[in-house]
Amino acid sequence: MENTAATKIGLVTGGSRGLGKDMALRLADHGHDVILTYQTKKEAANEVVRQIQDSGRKAAALPFDAADFGSISTFVEQVKSELSSTWQTNRIDFLINNAGIGATIPFEQVTAHDFDLFLNIHFKSVYFLTQALLPVINDHGRIINISTGTTRVGVPGYSVYASMKSAVETFTRYLAKEIGARGITANVVAPGPVETDFNNGGNRDIPERKKFLASMSALGRVGKPEDIGGVVAFLCSDDAGWINGQRIEVSGGMSL
Ligand SMILES: NC(=O)c1ccc[n+]([C@@H]2O[C@H](COP(=O)([O-])OP(=O)(O)OC[C@H]3O[C@@H](n4cnc5c(N)ncnc54)[C@H](OP(=O)(O)O)[C@@H]3O)[C@@H](O)[C@H]2O)c1
Repeated sequence: MENTAATKIGLVTGGSRGLGKDMALRLADHGHDVILTYQTKKEAANEVVRQIQDSGRKAAALPFDAADFGSISTFVEQVKSELSSTWQTNRIDFLINNAGIGATIPFEQVTAHDFDLFLNIHFKSVYFLTQALLPVINDHGRIINISTGTTRVGVPGYSVYASMKSAVETFTRYLAKEIGARGITANVVAPGPVETDFNNGGNRDIPERKKFLASMSALGRVGKPEDIGGVVAFLCSDDAGWINGQRIEVSGGMSL
C-alpha cells in the first residue's frame, strides 16, 4: 500500500482559511493531493476541498483540534482511514503544521490558561502530531512547520505566542537532524504579518495597525495569504530537496 504513484499527498493542518487554505490550493496547483484540517469551520474546509477537486486533484477535510492533546491518536487513525478509502495508500508525503491562533496579551496579563492554550496549540501538538505521523510519512517526504516573524522581531503582546513558535523553530532543527537518514527534510516557514482572520483580523481590519506593519516591511505592505502558500509548495518540490533545517522568513523584508 506504499504511495509509490507519482501523485503525492500533503496534509495541511488549519487548511480551512487563511494561510493554510492558500497552502492547500498551491499544493494542488503543483499537482499534489491534499488532506486539510479544520477546527470549527467545516463548511469552509469543504469548500477548499471542492476547489481542489475542481482543479482535478483529490482532497479531503478532517476535524482536528490542536488544543486537545488527547485527540491526536484518534486524528491519526482518521488520517489513515481517509488515506485508505480515498487514496488506497497508507502514506502521505508532506506534513505542514500550520494550524494556530493569535492574541495580543501584554506579558503582565498572561494567565496560566493562556500559556497552556498556546503551548498546546503551537508547540505540544506540533511536536507530538509530527511524532505520531512520522511512520505515515514516506521516505524523502517533507515536514514544514509554520512559525512567525515575531520570533526575530519583538511585537509587544506576543510573548507567549512567539515563545512557542521559537520552540517550534528549535524543534524543527532537531527533527531535521534526527530524520535525515530517511531522506525527509524539515524546515520552518516564518511569515511576517499577513491579512487573515488571525488575531481577530487585526492585520487586515485595523488601519493603524496595518499601516504600522506595512512600514516595517521593505516592500511597504502587509502580506497576503498568496504570498505564503507558494513558498510552502516550493519547499515540497524536487527543486527544494536540498533545503533542510532552515528557517525561511517570508515577510517582504520585515525589519531588515
Ligand atoms: N496571519 C499572520 O499574520 C501570521 C503571521 C505569522 C504566522 N502565522 C501563523 O500562520 C498559521 C495560520 O494562521 P492564519 O493567519 O492562517 O490564521 P487564520 O486565518 O485564523 O486560520 C487559522 C486556521 O487554524 C485553524 N485552527 C485554529 N485553532 C485551531 C485549533 N485549536 N486546532 C486546530 N486548528 C485550529 C483554523 O480552523 P477553523 O477555520 O476551523 O477555525 C484555521 O484553519 C498560524 O500558525 C499562525 O500562527 C500567521
